[in-house]
Amino acid sequence: MEIWVIHGPNLNLLGTREPEVYGSTTLADIDAQLEAAAKEEGVELSRFQSNHEGELVEHLQGAPGRADGILINPAGLTHTSVVLRDALLASGLPVVEVHLSNVHAREEFRRTSLVADIAVGQVAGFGPASYLLGLRGLLAHLRG
Ligand code: DQA
Repeated sequence: MEIWVIHGPNLNLLGTREPEVYGSTTLADIDAQLEAAAKEEGVELSRFQSNHEGELVEHLQGAPGRADGILINPAGLTHTSVVLRDALLASGLPVVEVHLSNVHAREEFRRTSLVADIAVGQVAGFGPASYLLGLRGLLAHLRG
């Protein structure tokens, strides 16, 4: 089984970006934690980060036939991107949406997600653990 992990814009800055909101863990640390969890679960991971909406869309267009599920932190695009939503839908794959911060306890605009209603589920507010919980949830869904 192969899970595609997708990180949206600005997540490459984790560790130094607004540490009071996002903590001090880097994206490389998160990816390493995910790799360890995937190894435990006996699944493959493919990881991708981009600051460009179009690159994320093009990457997702390669998912059918290769990925079994998508774990995504769409970052700021969560709240704005119809094209990312459409690309996720076009993949036909189960999607789990994750956020480091509790987007529901922040500014009003972060409460809107264009992904949540097409996702299997959303995990938000647990810092890097959101990704690990999201991965376990996605695998539980895929394994029925
Ligand atoms: C985020 C929350 C988004 O609102 C924000 O734009 C991000 C990160 C999170 O992981 O908490 O870039 O997705």
